[in-house]
Formats: sequence, structure tokens, C-alpha cells
Amino acid sequence: MKPKILVSREVFPEVIEHLAGHFEIDYHAEDAALPPAELAARLAGKAGAITMLTDRIDDSALAGAGGLKAVCNVAVGYNNFDLAALSRAGVLATNTPGVLDDTTADTVWALLMASARRVVAADRWVRAGRWQRWKFNDDWLGQDVHHATLGILGMGRIGQAVAKRAAGFAMRVIYHNRQTLPGEVERACNARWVSKEALLHEADFVVLMLPYSPAVHHLVGAVELAAMKPTAHLINVARGGIVDDDALIAALRERRIAGAGLDVFENEPALDARFFELDNVTLTPHIGSSSRATRLAMAMCAADNLIAALHGRRPPNLLNPEVFGG
Ligand code: GLV
Ligand code: GLV
Repeated sequence: MKPKILVSREVFPEVIEHLAGHFEIDYHAEDAALPPAELAARLAGKAGAITMLTDRIDDSALAGAGGLKAVCNVAVGYNNFDLAALSRAGVLATNTPGVLDDTTADTVWALLMASARRVVAADRWVRAGRWQRWKFNDDWLGQDVHHATLGILGMGRIGQAVAKRAAGFAMRVIYHNRQTLPGEVERACNARWVSKEALLHEADFVVLMLPYSPAVHHLVGAVELAAMKPTAHLINVARGGIVDDDALIAALRERRIAGAGLDVFENEPALDARFFELDNVTLTPHIGSSSRATRLAMAMCAADNLIAALHGRRPPNLLNPEVFGG
């Protein structure tokens, strides 16, 4: 008999086909998250689950799921997991690192360019029929990207992919991380370590690329925004909560920074509606990894982690190795 698994939310048919070769699937084929009580009820009696960032996996989700062996998130981030609770319950947890780095770095650049050159606000203006004559010193003077200073806070795989793309724009690249990167990695990225203060002070584009944890909650707040240049742009494709949205709205409103490109928000998708009134912010709905090829690769990666785990092998992207025996 095949082990039973839950797929918590709609994925691509080829992922279901792949999983169906190994498992009996309880498929919630809807484009909406299961309410917490239903998620808990459907985890009961399952050996494994494919989950999304919208599924909170904690003690109460796991309470009735004594037979659960593995939960595989279709995301690189796993702040929806209470990892300690999963480990206590002896459940293997996995994520999908690596496969989304280039796509997410592309999204950072899309928002950076859009913010610098006010692409989306200009589009709205043209659509509104407001383009009646051409002006030299026009309303659309933006910031140059070429030869500017790119500052990356959080220089993991995605941060490095963002840095490498800056070469074509002849940018100066600085980064801040708890640890400096090995010399060869710095050379490959043409990037130099600086303090967080220096990064905020010097960068024309401040890009956040760190994973969320309570330790980085409101890492960018009023003080950090005040340290940025008035001509600078903030780009966040990492996680809501790293930025204090209230402080950011104030800084954008008072033009204390030039603009922001945001893919993630506190309390998303119910983001602060005051963002909608600002013309110096570009907003996207958490689509950092959203190309078809990459979303498919992420889901297949999660499926392969689950297949390995339920066949007794060490899943490639294990987050709590102590559960597997170190
Ligand atoms: C997206 O936010 C992810 O963590 O994969
Ligand atoms: C996170 O996974 C990163 O690469 O920064």
C-alpha cells in the first residue's frame, strides 16, 4: 500500500503525476490555503505533506498527526514552520533552496529598475491620457542605475546572484553580512564587505536579501531609513517584517528616500493600504520566484524531498538533521 500524503494547495499537474507514482494523494486542488483546523484534520493519518508558505505548521497543526514523517515546503523560506515543534514531533522538514536563486535575482532587478526609472507610475500616467506634450526637464527624471552603488544586505545565494548582474551596469557593489564571504566569492561578485551603517549611508540601491527570523524583525526601521540617501531606493524581495512598513510609509511620504520596490509586506496579502496612495513605491504580490519553470522546479524539488524522506533516505534539503540522526 502506498503511503498517504497531503498536498495542501494547487500545484502543477506534472507534480501530482510525479507524486502519484509513489503515494496516495489527498489533494486540496484549490488556489487557497486550508483553514488551520482543516489543515490539522487532513494531516491526521498522513505520512507526509507538501506545504506552502501560507500553511502554518506548528504544535496545533501537528497535534493529531502522529504518523507524519516529513513536511516539504514549496519555498526557500520556512518561516511558516515552527521548526522546533516539527523536530519535537520527529517530523523531517525541508525547503527548496537553489532552484529559485536566478529567478528571484531577476525580480530584484525588475523592481530596482522600475523604481529607479519610475516605470509603473509613468505607465499609469500614460494610460490616464496625461501625456500631451514632450518636455526636456520632465516629470519623470529618475535615478541612474549605471555606475551607481548597489548595497546588498544579506549576501547568500540570491544576494550573490543579484550582485553578479550588476557588472553589466558598471556598478560599485557593497554588501553586509554577519560574516565576510571568502575572497574568491567576493571577487566573483565584485563586491566588498562594509558595515551595515556604511551600506545604508553609501548605497543608491539598498537591496534586502536575508531570510526572515525574529532576530531581523524591523531590521530596517526609522533609524535605518534616516541613514539612507534622499536619492536612494529600497528594494525588498526577501520577507515582510524585515522592514518596518509604518516607518517606510512615512519616509516615502516625506520623500526622505526616493522610492521603494516591494514584493513582500508585513501582514501580506493584507498590506497597509497607505502604500496605494504613494507614487514613489512599486508594489508586486510576492512573485519573487514566479516564473513557470522555477515554480515547477520548486514543486518538483519539494516532491523529491518527500519521496526521499518516505523511502527512508535523507532528503536533500533537510532543515532539521537531528531528526534524521544528525
Ligand atoms: C518565497 O518567498 C520563498 O521563500 O520561496
Ligand atoms: C537565501 O536563501 C539567500 O540565498 O539569500
